[in-house]
Amino acid sequence: MEKKKVIFSGMQPSGSLTLGNYLGALKNWVNLQGQYESYYCVVDMHAITVPKEPKHLRKNTLEVLANYIAAGLDPEQVTLFIQSHVPAHAELSWILNCFSYYGELSRMTQFKDKSRKQDSNAITAGLFTYPVLMAADILLYQADLVPVGEDQRQHLEITRDIAQRFNNRFSETFTVPEPFISKDVAKVMSLQDPNSKMSKSDSNENAYILLMDKPEKIKRKFKRSVTDSIGVVNYTDDQPGIKNLINIYSKITNKKPEEIVTDYEGKGYAKLKEDVAEVVIAELEPIQEKIDYLLKNKDYLEKIYIAGAQKAEAAAHKTLRKVKRKVGFIPR
Ligand code: TRP
Repeated sequence: MEKKKVIFSGMQPSGSLTLGNYLGALKNWVNLQGQYESYYCVVDMHAITVPKEPKHLRKNTLEVLANYIAAGLDPEQVTLFIQSHVPAHAELSWILNCFSYYGELSRMTQFKDKSRKQDSNAITAGLFTYPVLMAADILLYQADLVPVGEDQRQHLEITRDIAQRFNNRFSETFTVPEPFISKDVAKVMSLQDPNSKMSKSDSNENAYILLMDKPEKIKRKFKRSVTDSIGVVNYTDDQPGIKNLINIYSKITNKKPEEIVTDYEGKGYAKLKEDVAEVVIAELEPIQEKIDYLLKNKDYLEKIYIAGAQKAEAAAHKTLRKVKRKVGFIPR
């Protein structure tokens, strides 16, 4: 039997996920499971690169795990785990820090964006070396493919550079991973500013839908979503608000955008908004029930993350042992 390709990806535990995380990432991960050997991680170590309240971090970490499972990731088929449970991530990250350059890390746009907003005394070294920890995550599992959003492309490129550098300096050690940024994955945009990505860190709550939002809230947010004054439903970049609504509708129902446009000929925006809200509510309802159930059954969640960490650790350990030997550490 041919060996399955390895997939690795992760999300930060920053609270309940958004419709954007779900449609843009999670739903695709679920479609890929079975075809690949997959590892999906909750990256709590990345989360503390900016200040986090410990009790929030704990809660959010379990919530994201529950979101993964509720969205359809099957713990029997994929390895679900919490990053800090596998110390190899921290260990490899240190070693790779010593094969990463100040210059290349300084060029990371996400670091520049995040650090621009802060006083330099508040920017942690962890925020600066964030991409190296991400490289460690990926390289530990010899991942072939890393499904991520466009915003992570640069981090994947530096991962490849670090892997190649290490392989050239010593010998073939790491699989050089490919980004897996699917073109048909429509980016879900803010409901308030359809030119920027839907994000939970938006100061306006109406800009995003959370997977945990109740039906009334979802209706209200779509009703208030920003569109335009053209008044005709069309799928074009000139109408980014409407385009976003169509993308959401399309992604959930699998109807083509053109079909949706035809369906709404002669109908107003209000009807489209109502219908999009309805399909979103129907899609999320079973997921929300499952999330509620899981968060009330912490013992079950604990079993999943313990088993996941054991599986992940076994794979990670193989790579780490090799790496330590290659750099010249004495085996104990
Ligand atoms: N940086 C990623 C994000 O913010 C999260 C992440 C951490 C990740 N480690 C990873 C994604 C490894 C893919 C693979 O979205």
